[in-house]
Amino acid sequence: QGFLLNVLRKFLLKAFFCLSKVEYHPFQRPQELVDYCRSREIVFEGYCPLAKGEALTHPSIIQLAKKYGRTPAQICIRWSIQNGIVTIPKSTRAERIQENCKVFDFTIAEDDVEILNGMHDGRHVSWDPSLIV
Ligand SMILES: NC(=O)c1ccc[n+]([C@@H]2O[C@H](COP(=O)([O-])OP(=O)(O)OC[C@H]3O[C@@H](n4cnc5c(N)ncnc54)[C@H](OP(=O)(O)O)[C@@H]3O)[C@@H](O)[C@H]2O)c1
Repeated sequence: QGFLLNVLRKFLLKAFFCLSKVEYHPFQRPQELVDYCRSREIVFEGYCPLAKGEALTHPSIIQLAKKYGRTPAQICIRWSIQNGIVTIPKSTRAERIQENCKVFDFTIAEDDVEILNGMHDGRHVSWDPSLIV
């Protein structure tokens, strides 16, 4: 997040950014970067919202899925949306793509959003920008 913040700050001087595409899921919630993007009217787009599937077997996420009568994937995607993130889940299976789209007819309560927010442990399931330099 520090590296990406520095990149955005440096290049904002020279160019106009309208979108930043960054890994975002319950284990990776770079809130400082999200806040910075919002302050500059840059859309924050989150990729790997299911942590490439890692988040789907976490006990807290399974518990929330049961509570809301949804799937773990829907909980992760809905959480991203409620945090104001443009989210891009991926599946090669038609039925999962449909499942992943059905996230606009329920709301995760604020205290449960906070549980998910508290799961950030900084892990990357894609590339780690801080390892570039
Ligand atoms: N800009 C970048 O550097 C960057 C880096 C990484 C990814 N991305 C993009 O971000 C998007 C998503 O990333 P991602 O595919 O790496 O991670 P992801 O969306 O977090 O996870 C995808 C994995 O979850 C499984 N899955 C999807 N929906 C599911 C469901 N409802 N139930 C159970 N399993 C489910 C998929 O398997 P199945 O296919 O078998 O369903 C796949 O293994 C992609 O469009 C990708 O191109 C961008």
